[in-house]
Amino acid sequence: AAARIGQGPLTGKKVLLTAGPTREFLDPVRFISNPSTGKMGLALAEAARKLGAKVTVVLGPVGAVDRTGLEVVDVVSAEDMAREVLSRVEAVDWFIASAAVSDWRPETRAPQKVKKGESPEVLKLVRTPDVLAEASKKVAGAPRRPLLVGFAAETERVLEHAREKLERKNLDAIVANDVTVPGAGFGTDTNRVTVLSRTGVRKDLEGTKLQVAQGILELLLSLPPAVPG
Ligand code: CTP
Ligand code: CA
Repeated sequence: AAARIGQGPLTGKKVLLTAGPTREFLDPVRFISNPSTGKMGLALAEAARKLGAKVTVVLGPVGAVDRTGLEVVDVVSAEDMAREVLSRVEAVDWFIASAAVSDWRPETRAPQKVKKGESPEVLKLVRTPDVLAEASKKVAGAPRRPLLVGFAAETERVLEHAREKLERKNLDAIVANDVTVPGAGFGTDTNRVTVLSRTGVRKDLEGTKLQVAQGILELLLSLPPAVPG
């Protein structure tokens, strides 16, 4: 047992992550979603665990994944994800939002399968909660505000959009992910990202998702501690 008690830079720290897509059902058999597989978030979870953290992953539907050493909270919709995150975020040291949360959901969910003969011509959509923005609001001004990290999956003006999200959601850092470059983005085993911190640090990272995850955590560990308030 002694061999398993390792000391790492995150020993004694709690890290909360979101990962994977969400599903927003319009009836019992149909949903709006996106191609996220949760690989980047699960790589971050593994990397944080190896550094000694106690890791909780609020995970959208991604199929079978290795859950070794992780607390996994399975969720389906953005609303579920928001509820599970908001009930935990005040108790953690770091919150990293890597999930590809659906921005919209159908306004209503039919209790029974909609038959094709009854197909609506227009699907009315409403906004889902922004899990990261709500978590950020919840911990703003807390005496032990967690370090807050977002992702920005973009197809154009990547760094500009990422900086805007860093500001708007009041984050400590953001991982800018150009999902149009080969070997980056949804479903791949590799990634290429640029991490931007509130304090002006900028770092390009490339490699397997585990290597990129390790690079992200290393950069986060090097940031100056968050100023309360
Ligand atoms: N995010 C979230 N909840 C949402 C939408 C986004 O928690 N409903 C988080 C993502 O996990 C990511 C960050 O916010 O860490 C940015 O997500 P992104 O989709 O890039 O940005 P949005 O704010 O949704 O803006 P847009 O999709 O218009 O670019
Ligand atoms: Ca979005």
